[in-house]
Amino acid sequence: MRKFSTMQKILVTGGAGYIGSHTVVELINTGFEVVIVDNFSNSTPDSINGIERITGIRPSLHEADCSDIQAMQKLFFEEKNIDGIIHFAALKVVGESVERPLEYYRNNLLSTINMMQMLSEFGGKYMVFSSSCTVYGQPDVLPVTEETPRKLAMSPYGNTKRVGEDIIQDTVKASHGIYAIALRYFNPIGAHPSAEIGELPLGKPDNLVPFITQTAAGIREKLQIFGGDYDSPDGTAIRDYFHVVDLARAHVLALQRMIDGKSKATYEVFNVGAGKGVTVLQVVKAFERVTGVKLNYEIVGRRAGDIEKVWADTSLAQTELGWKALSTLEEALLTAWNWEKRVKGIKN
Ligand code: UFG
Repeated sequence: MRKFSTMQKILVTGGAGYIGSHTVVELINTGFEVVIVDNFSNSTPDSINGIERITGIRPSLHEADCSDIQAMQKLFFEEKNIDGIIHFAALKVVGESVERPLEYYRNNLLSTINMMQMLSEFGGKYMVFSSSCTVYGQPDVLPVTEETPRKLAMSPYGNTKRVGEDIIQDTVKASHGIYAIALRYFNPIGAHPSAEIGELPLGKPDNLVPFITQTAAGIREKLQIFGGDYDSPDGTAIRDYFHVVDLARAHVLALQRMIDGKSKATYEVFNVGAGKGVTVLQVVKAFERVTGVKLNYEIVGRRAGDIEKVWADTSLAQTELGWKALSTLEEALLTAWNWEKRVKGIKN
């Protein structure tokens, strides 16, 4: 990726989190000046140390809540000249969102509204929004393109992504000179190859790969595979897993597109995934193969709210952003394992 001659200042909300921290590294390595805002509700300041160890640069950090408008005004006033925002900060546990909908709507929607307001008030121009393939629900046709109709989400979390997209689209339509790109992520996995940063779930992981690595590390006794009766080659559900560093690069390319004036519309959407469907059992087998660790697992009933299968058509991201996933599933799983071993202090 090319370096910028004039340094652009980018605010990364949730920059201490899993995808945020990997994106901060790619931004710094591309020559951006990065400001992080994070309330550490699902992350720790350790990831900032990891970012510094990888890049040699410690980004400016504000501990604040993006849904707090006064705190955001203070931040934008102090930092001055923020050119754009990459907005990750959000609550993201699907099941929890069903139990605590208001918390999810309040936090995720207010944060997004505040970020758009800050761009307008302080003259920033660019927004990259962390959206999700959850906006497609269970699609009727696979793979999913950006034209695939969005469906009512299965959870309040999913709704916040759908409505978040709408808030951003409507705001750029009504503003002059603000550009936005929503990236609809499929299933990002893995960790930075340095093992300095990675996913750090608080408590029991909801997502497949952290559950696999914790089981391999002996933190969990057994992986439960949810559903063995899906319409797939081995009966387990299909997703599109791809490396988090590839996802981080997609954010940098999205920003560059807007900065370079290459956007074809003020609001654009891109799918980001490997473009390939893989079953849960295939992930388990790939993990065992690449790490040499045998996993204790059992196939149990389906998890409520899970869809059967989804994977992306990523041709738009390829032609327009010049992006595609470069790492293989095996490489991504190995980095996830190396990160888990580092966190747990497992040698070799
Ligand atoms: N799975 C298991 N056992 C586990 C955890 C997960 O079998 O312990 C299975 C799930 O049932 C699913 C697959 O592994 O079939 C992937 O599950 P994840 O929780 O890792 O990912 P999801 O696809 O369910 O969810 C992800 C994001 C959500 C987002 C959703 C959009 O984590 O934030 O994609 O579809 F909303």
